[in-house]
Amino acid sequence: MSDDLIHTVEQEAVVPVHEPERQYYFMEKAKKVLQKMSEAAGRPLTFCVTTFGCQMNARDSEKLTGILERVGYVEEADEEKADFVIYNTCTVRENANQRVYGRLGQLGRIKKKNPHMLIALCGCMMQEPEVVEKLKKSYRFVDLIFGTHNIYKFAELLAARLESGSQVIDIWKDTDAIVEDLPTERKYPFKSGVNIMFGCNNFCSYCIVPYVRGRERSREPEAIIREIEKLASDGVVEVMLLGQNVNSYGKTLEHPISFAELLRRIEKVSGIERIRFMTSHPKDLSDELIEVMAQSGKICRHLHLPLQSGSTRILEKMNRRYTKESYLALVGRIRKAIPDISLTTDIIVGFPGETEEDFLETMDVVRKVGYDSAFTFIYSKRTGTPAAVMPDQVPEDVVKDRFNRLLKEVQDISAGRCALHEGTVQTVLAESVNDHDSSLLTGRLGNNLLVHFPGDPSMIGGFYKVHLRECRGFYYLGEIVSDE
Ligand code: 5AD
Ligand code: SF4
Repeated sequence: MSDDLIHTVEQEAVVPVHEPERQYYFMEKAKKVLQKMSEAAGRPLTFCVTTFGCQMNARDSEKLTGILERVGYVEEADEEKADFVIYNTCTVRENANQRVYGRLGQLGRIKKKNPHMLIALCGCMMQEPEVVEKLKKSYRFVDLIFGTHNIYKFAELLAARLESGSQVIDIWKDTDAIVEDLPTERKYPFKSGVNIMFGCNNFCSYCIVPYVRGRERSREPEAIIREIEKLASDGVVEVMLLGQNVNSYGKTLEHPISFAELLRRIEKVSGIERIRFMTSHPKDLSDELIEVMAQSGKICRHLHLPLQSGSTRILEKMNRRYTKESYLALVGRIRKAIPDISLTTDIIVGFPGETEEDFLETMDVVRKVGYDSAFTFIYSKRTGTPAAVMPDQVPEDVVKDRFNRLLKEVQDISAGRCALHEGTVQTVLAESVNDHDSSLLTGRLGNNLLVHFPGDPSMIGGFYKVHLRECRGFYYLGEIVSDE
């Protein structure tokens, strides 16, 4: 489809108003300018995209990469050597912002030596007005700044920067638009993220996401299925459905459909062997979804179910809309229907007003559920969120102490959970060559645990039966038993 698009675009004298045709027009335009630049340099121009934050950002970076390759850039892993550096930023916690400023200072020094270098910033952090003010004032060397809502306009913004030669800033407050059929470049040939929805409507009181990612918008199921069918015909065997709150997928569509129904339809796509999704909000997880998961041969036995806190009092202040008891009851229903499910979670320590008793409630849930793994975070005050102005912010030393106690508990429990599968034979998707030992491959079980086993790179992307010989805390060493 996209080649046809370019063909028609070239014959058009005026800029197309509709998307994605408009972006293909600007890709052609940017390509011509870059071709000249590359001829002058006597070599291909290179780019490097650095992604901060979550899987949604990782997927957005694949879209940026798809456009960059289309306009003639070649990927360069070393940021310091690239002609075009893009930071796709995250702002969920304050330290993520600090990291970006630190690295940006470093880039500024490199750009002084190489004035032709281009620098772009995009992603969640750019949706904060204070950030853009600071960049305008103190980081004049940044060439292009855009946000989360207009990422699909990357080609147009790049063309504007190439044409004008001056800083381009374009940030939108919100959008209703979902633009389909732009190019993307997958990081892995055999697995891919698939956005099913954008934004979040939950307004958990600590979280900046609803302000920077906007209101909840679901993609049409037909567009999702079309994308997955195309991925399958391209050799993809695993899809990860992405959304801030996948359990409320489809509720606002003109013809509403449930997330469970979407999964039923995806299950029918031949070639797709594994279906994953994240993130699930406990308040919206339906019995229908549990049933679909229990009956499915393709949906992985893994649920990421953020707890945030085990104290009902704190959960209320967080605006999570479930209680300790209802969360535990939900886990009970899930475990009853799918006994081999792996459960993972996110927990925040030190939310304003959290007492020792509240913290012990969290520890209690951690023990009762027995998470296979948990991401633990120290509460980070995000300006503009309701929690930022709540009284009784917890002192740093108290938070650190709680955090360390929680981390130890979580690690002990997950090591015990991991050991449960030792000695069994499981199906593993071979994903990469092992980072430390090139005679080993690293693969993943359906429940998301990692296994290292002897193999060669030609096996990547295939499924194998692997004997999990030895558990090493949070991963296994194993050997292939036979091809599946
Ligand atoms: N402080 C600490 N952790 C946070 N998260 C979201 N906002 C904050 C914050 N202000 C965590 C939540 C969420 C995960 C993606 O990040 O646990 O689930
Ligand atoms: Fe943030 Fe809550 Fe939305 Fe998750 S569900 S993105 S924690 S507001």
